Amino acid sequence: MREKVERILQQAQEGIAAAKSQQELESLRVSLLGKKGQLTALLRGMGELDPQERPLVGQMVNEARGQLEQLLKERRQELEARELQERLATERIDITLPGLPFPRGREHVLQATARAIERIFLSMGFSIAQGPELEWDYLNFEALNIPADHPARDMQDSFYVTDEIVLRTQTSPVQVRTMQQMTPNLPVRIIAPGRVYRRDDDVTHSPVFHQIEGLVVDQDITMGDLKGTLRAFAYRMYGPQTRIRLRPSYFPFTEPSAEVDVSCTICGGTGCRVCGETGWLEILGCGMVHPRVLKNGGYDPDRVTGFAFGLGIERVAMLKYGIDDIRLFYQNDFRFLRQF
Ligand code: DAH
Repeated sequence: MREKVERILQQAQEGIAAAKSQQELESLRVSLLGKKGQLTALLRGMGELDPQERPLVGQMVNEARGQLEQLLKERRQELEARELQERLATERIDITLPGLPFPRGREHVLQATARAIERIFLSMGFSIAQGPELEWDYLNFEALNIPADHPARDMQDSFYVTDEIVLRTQTSPVQVRTMQQMTPNLPVRIIAPGRVYRRDDDVTHSPVFHQIEGLVVDQDITMGDLKGTLRAFAYRMYGPQTRIRLRPSYFPFTEPSAEVDVSCTICGGTGCRVCGETGWLEILGCGMVHPRVLKNGGYDPDRVTGFAFGLGIERVAMLKYGIDDIRLFYQNDFRFLRQF
């Protein structure tokens, strides 16, 4: 019996020392100490022994079991340490390797254009005002002196949500909102950038586009103030060689009204494809605020005057970069966007 136990111990010691992985070690443990293992079998066989021998043999087997458990444990720790060493060696990472390139985002060209325009007016003392994109029909049209039979008020041209609410077709209603909030304080000096909506869709028109509105109201504001402000804007935006001209025009909410051209930013005024050989580019509409609009804003048209202007951000960007299709702004094609 003693020999049997010693033989098992001896073989087990060799096996444990030779085990090359934790898996191998585990199957060894099962074959020795498991339910059907060799030592377990010895204990089972004790029934056939002389009762006097049983305690001795039992003790022997239990000692052997303790020794084996200890050996298994030590070997497992060795193997664990070795496996960790191997992993550390083979899975080493080189932290000096260059990282994966992470494409850097940038401002959208329309956002950048809007910011450039805003910066110029902010530096001239304007502040930024905002209004909702879902606007009262009254503020979008009526309060701006746009008569009920004006074509813009037709379902064909505007997105109506209800009889009274429309997706604003222009940023001009922010003029009235701002005046209503500020009256009777002076001066009013704001720009209002934002989205506007029209039933229009071709290479130069998008159903959603962006405008920046401007409004100044104070005592003794004249057309000269308007022209000086716009000229300062054009210099800053397009460079000091830029010239501007005002052409008489018509808007219901200004009187008199004008359209403003700048000398062509591409050819400098000699004539090219972008300016249609005229040397001039139309960039905005403007005028002296109509007395009725001042009144709807809560100001007394006999005591104050004002000027207003409105420009399309897409249009400014298209003329600046010679872009001929407005839809390029919205398609998010990197080949287009990353040029700016
Ligand atoms: N709201 C006009 C439009 O959408 C642009 C405009 C013209 C705004 C003249 C103004 C202005 O404030 O004075 O076409």
